[in-house]
Amino acid sequence: MKHRPRRVVKLSAAAFAPVAQLKCATCLGPPRIPKLESAIVVARNVTKSFRHMGRTLEVLRGVDIMIDNGEVLAIVGPSGAGKSTLLHCIGTLDVPTSGSILLAGEEITRLPGWRLADLRNRTIGFVFQFHHLLPEFNAVENVMMPGLVQGGRPRLELEVRAGALLEEVGLKDRMLHRPGELSGGEQQRVALARALMLEPKLLLADEPTGNLDSATSSQIHDLFFAINEQRGTTIVVVTHNANLAASMPRVVALRDGRVETDERRSGQSAERRAPATG
Ligand SMILES: Nc1ncnc2c1ncn2[C@@H]1O[C@H](COP(=O)(O)OP(=O)(O)O)[C@@H](O)[C@H]1O
Ligand SMILES: [Mg+2]
Repeated sequence: MKHRPRRVVKLSAAAFAPVAQLKCATCLGPPRIPKLESAIVVARNVTKSFRHMGRTLEVLRGVDIMIDNGEVLAIVGPSGAGKSTLLHCIGTLDVPTSGSILLAGEEITRLPGWRLADLRNRTIGFVFQFHHLLPEFNAVENVMMPGLVQGGRPRLELEVRAGALLEEVGLKDRMLHRPGELSGGEQQRVALARALMLEPKLLLADEPTGNLDSATSSQIHDLFFAINEQRGTTIVVVTHNANLAASMPRVVALRDGRVETDERRSGQSAERRAPATG
C-alpha cells in the first residue's frame, strides 16, 4: 500500500485542546507498551458465559488485555468471536462471569450498579454500528442528551457544547436536522459527537462504520484519530474494516473467545500489512 499521510481533520473549537500536529501512519514511531500504572483498562482472565436453551455458551474464555491511557487499538476477529461481548464487559454494560477488570483504577466486577453507572458516565463514550439516535430529536438535542440525563448543568451550556462538538465533526450545517434527515455517515458523526458530550477518557466503538461506504468510513476513521491526537482519548474500535485495522498501532485479534494475537507495531509494518481493498 502506498504511503498516504493521514488526512488532517481540524478540531480546533472550544471543546478541544489546542490542535496537535497529526502524524501520518508511517510516522507512528515505535510501538508503545502499556504500563500497569498508566493503564485505563486492565482485564485479567475474563470469562463470560451465557445460558441459552439449557446450554452454557462460553463466549469469552480467559481474555487478558491491558490498554494504556491514550492508546488507539482495533479489535478484530470473525463474527461470533466475542468482540462485542468483550467491549460490553469493558464498558460496564455487561458483567463478566469471572475474572477481573480494572477501569480507570476501579475494579468494576465488584462495584454496585449505581457506582458502575456513575463510573460509566464519567469515563466512557460508546459508538455503536446502529447509532441509536432518538428519531424525534434533532442533532443538537441528541448530542445534548447524555448531559440532560446526567443533570446538573444548565441547558444553554449543554446546547453550546453540543453545537461546538457538531461543528467539530463537520455538521455545522446539519444541527437542526433529525436523524431521518441525515445520511448514514452524518448520523454516525452525530453519534460520535454524542459520545464525546461528557468528555470520556475511553471511547468504545463497535463496528462504527459497518454500515457505511468506504469513503465515509475513512472520514469517520480520520475523526477517531483526530480525537485521539487532540484530546488524548483512548479509543477501542471493533472493526471488520481491514484498512482501519491496518492503520492502527495495535491490533488485538479474538478467536473463539480468546486473544489470538495482540500486535503492537510501528506505522511502517501496519502499512505493509494493509490489504489492497477493504
Ligand atoms: N445475550 C446472549 N445470550 C446468548 N448468547 C449470546 C448473547 N450475546 C452474545 N451471545 C453469543 O456469543 C457469541 C459472541 O457474540 P459477540 O460477542 O456478539 O460476537 P462478535 O461481536 O465477535 O461477532 C455469539 O455466538 C453470540 O450468539
Ligand atoms: Mg459484534
